[in-house]
Amino acid sequence: MNNLTTEQGLLSALRYRGAPTAKFRSASDRLARLISAKALSRLNGDNSTGRGMDEGRQKRTDMLIVPVMRAGMALVPAFTELLPDAPVGIVVIQRDEETAKPSLYYEKLPEVALERALIVDPMLATGGSACLVADLLTERGYERGNIYFVGVLAAPEGIEKLSQVIPRSNIVVAAVDQGLDERNFIVPGLGDYGDRYYGT
Ligand code: PRP
Repeated sequence: MNNLTTEQGLLSALRYRGAPTAKFRSASDRLARLISAKALSRLNGDNSTGRGMDEGRQKRTDMLIVPVMRAGMALVPAFTELLPDAPVGIVVIQRDEETAKPSLYYEKLPEVALERALIVDPMLATGGSACLVADLLTERGYERGNIYFVGVLAAPEGIEKLSQVIPRSNIVVAAVDQGLDERNFIVPGLGDYGDRYYGT
């Protein structure tokens, strides 16, 4: 029986391929709350002014949340609960099933860049999708050092690739798995997060 109050217990629940949609969603939502709290307190703690969460709250609107659709949407409520004023920029990216190359289908970001941006996506596999978003954000005026990534599972290859675009210390994930399989899925991973969360 998994402990559904810890990151590791919730991750195990997500990894279980036999979990029905409702169980997967519930574990994902709980884990998202743990990860968002951890990531935001780390971000605020990392800030050079050393401001804590309370002070951080007054500066909430300095942070843009950027979920990578589709799976990234699953994590958004956990972040907007903690950052109720934060704008949410939408990017729709889909990996090619054969090549794993990401394509951008739609984006809507605020016209004026904010101070920081937080890319939210449960899976960091090859890192192609996250790098595409990070590059888009830098084109829109965000400094690389002010772009963060928060996710659930990563492959070392994805961390490596994204670290070439934003600082390694700006990447927060619940677990780093062994690697990628021939389809560029994370191993052991948990399957396709979007399909499992949305029941498709
Ligand atoms: C998955 C996942 C990430 C991306 C990670 O999305 O949610 O966005 O792949 O892979 P990468 O690091 O190799 O780019 P997918 O394109 O399957 O779309 P989905 O969110 O609709 O499932």
